[in-house]
Amino acid sequence: MSRIAYVNGRYLPHGAASVHIEDRGYQFADGVYEVIAVRDGVLIDGDWHMERLQRSLSELQIGMPMSVTALNVVLRETARRNRFREGIVYLQISRGVARRDHPFPSADTRPALVVTARRTPPLAAKIIDAGVSVISQPDIRWDRCDIKSISLLPNVLVKQAARVQGAFEAWQVDGDGFVTEGASTNAWIINGDGHLITRPVENAILNGITRRRLLALAKQQGITVVERPFSLAEAKSAREAFLTSTTAFVLPVVRIDETVLGNGRPGSRTLSLRQLYMEFMAEKETDFD
Ligand code: PDD
Repeated sequence: MSRIAYVNGRYLPHGAASVHIEDRGYQFADGVYEVIAVRDGVLIDGDWHMERLQRSLSELQIGMPMSVTALNVVLRETARRNRFREGIVYLQISRGVARRDHPFPSADTRPALVVTARRTPPLAAKIIDAGVSVISQPDIRWDRCDIKSISLLPNVLVKQAARVQGAFEAWQVDGDGFVTEGASTNAWIINGDGHLITRPVENAILNGITRRRLLALAKQQGITVVERPFSLAEAKSAREAFLTSTTAFVLPVVRIDETVLGNGRPGSRTLSLRQLYMEFMAEKETDFD
């Protein structure tokens, strides 16, 4: 089945879709994005993604290209046209097309919108059963990692370092030795008391939607959640560790650098949290066919 993309008002075959060479997203990484999981006709936590998108845009003084209602229609329509049960919708908004010059272009420049969608096969059961490795890397990003900017070069470099070393993810570490987050995932540990520990949402990390949802689900279960920074050393001696994101959901971490956590198998608490999240997604009512 051919893939369909949405670009500035038109649905086009994926291979024929393109943006202008002076799109500021292309020239300055001057834009923001969202990745939303789609399961059986549901955009998982779509409202929270729209909320975060609007916040990212407003922090960068980029306008919405259309109303949230219209954007929701485009997201669902793009997903629907690509016909899959499990996948993702990617949306990107840049400040628009203008002659290359650093300051913002004139106020009548329209933000540019691209939406793509694709099937993502579920993570292989053997990856979940075995858990994944992460490596640590210095966090060399800017001070506004709360904005979901398309400027992802440091994230690309640390993810590549992880790949080269055979690891799934790189946990970035700030100047004080505390873990911020992964290249494209949030980082969590579980201590000896069974408490979930994850860095609080401020400028150093992205306010992950999966993180936010899992926090709410865990609290409903009466699990103690502590939002505080944790050091790399603490992570290496944690009872369990895991990461969360729109594409990985909840994924057990069994090794950090050379340190194997516990018995090297995914922790039981992590697996229950994954189950909790999978059940949450399965319960959603279909919102498009
Ligand atoms: N990444 N931290 C960073 C730096 C991220 O890029 C992401 C998401 C997350 C997890 O956020 P969420 O739960 O909302 O997906 C944390 C997306 C999936 C990506 O870039 O592909």
